[in-house]
Amino acid sequence: MADLVIHNSVVVTGETMYPASVAIHDGKILSIGSADSMPQAKEVLDATGLHLLPGAIDVHVHFRDPGYPHKEDWESGTAAAAFGGVTTVFDMPNTIPPTGTAQILADKHAIASSKAYVDYGLYGLLGENTIANVAELVAGGVIGFKLYMGNTFGAIPSPSTGAMLEAFEVVAPTGKRVSLHAETNSIMERRQSRLTAAGRTDALAHLAARPAVVAVEAVARAAILAEWTGARIHVLHISSAAELRPLAEAKARGVDITGETCPQYLFLSADDYERLGGIIRVNPPVREIENQQPIWDALMSGVIDIIATDHAPHAIPEKTRDDIWTVDCGFPGVETQRPMMLTEVAAGRVSLCQYVRWSSVNPAKVWGLFPRKGLIEPGADADIALVDLKHQWKIDDAQLQSRSKISPWHGRNVCGLTIHTLVRGRFAMRDRTLVTGTKGWGRSVHTIQHMPTPQPCHTDETMQAILRDPKPSQRT
Ligand code: NCD
Ligand code: ZN
Repeated sequence: MADLVIHNSVVVTGETMYPASVAIHDGKILSIGSADSMPQAKEVLDATGLHLLPGAIDVHVHFRDPGYPHKEDWESGTAAAAFGGVTTVFDMPNTIPPTGTAQILADKHAIASSKAYVDYGLYGLLGENTIANVAELVAGGVIGFKLYMGNTFGAIPSPSTGAMLEAFEVVAPTGKRVSLHAETNSIMERRQSRLTAAGRTDALAHLAARPAVVAVEAVARAAILAEWTGARIHVLHISSAAELRPLAEAKARGVDITGETCPQYLFLSADDYERLGGIIRVNPPVREIENQQPIWDALMSGVIDIIATDHAPHAIPEKTRDDIWTVDCGFPGVETQRPMMLTEVAAGRVSLCQYVRWSSVNPAKVWGLFPRKGLIEPGADADIALVDLKHQWKIDDAQLQSRSKISPWHGRNVCGLTIHTLVRGRFAMRDRTLVTGTKGWGRSVHTIQHMPTPQPCHTDETMQAILRDPKPSQRT
């Protein structure tokens, strides 16, 4: 006896699509096949006209909890995810306090597990002062680590290259991936103060402070440190064509490096600053239009692995100040990624299977969640988005589930809407209505791990090794 059978949908995976019925039991997919092969079920859903996709895994969201409840919390953030067809999110550590100790992590786990509608992973902060906490953070259940190479929201100091090397040395043997905000702080700090001194307060001054070289230098440097130590790294929010070269070259050298981009770098450009003003302010900045097509091409070729959103909610007054330097960076996106991308599927620019790879399959593989997540197969978690690919609508910020009612996507005409979202077999969102009874159903996914064995390098040269066991020449 199944809990639920879904009839008449088209099942979509990273490889193929086919019409089928899907039976779900105990949170997992029980069987897939013809309608008459389905077991008896407590409940039946007719999904005629809908495509059945693995839920999206958004590896880059800021749910602001604890710390900034007026911007977002775990309840509103995961409701937004459910409405966007996103069934797993990875939350960033720039909350208050930053997620840098086992105790703070335990507190965040408690908050998230009591409020979340969807599954989640929590990032631990890898900063200058938290390197010593890596072991306790791993034991406390992080999905990976976040390292801010440049300043961004939350005023988290960026570690020196020396601290980064040591941090990578310490994380490498754990096998956890380090996700990098790859923008070099000293370059942008200097440029911003020069621009400020010159009286620039306009939106484009933000881009002028952070040209692509800021990101290129950071990606290249991080790749060298990852190669040296064997640490796994992930380059967050790729914004420029120029970053693709150090990323592709590091991949070719065998570095365990992956890349992500976000809708803002695929759909917006420097031409939108005048129209959007402070709303467009985000780190890294939205860049000149010439960057867009190379980023699309890198997705197609596999140089970029993943689409995430950097969902970074702020309140309307925080996004509409006149002086660009005082505008909070970022905007919501977890709810609008799918419709934005599905619009390109409808237009024939990308295939639905390609999109499922970027948004579900690859994130699951990169963080060791595959094949339990990111796949529609018997035995996998029943994390499902039922999507109407033909539904045309207009994005309206006021209708977003996020507490942040201001985004650059307002007014966009899109094609594709998630009608129902299931997380481990339970409806989190049904017929575009939140199923409030599933609040607190979301669970941390750090326990699922199908990662290859870590391969740390230069292990006799790490700071830890030398201090523990000095070589004869280094003994005093
Ligand atoms: C993010 C935020 O608001 O927390 N802001 C942003 O501009 N992207 C931080 C980040 O991801 O860098
Ligand atoms: Zn970032």
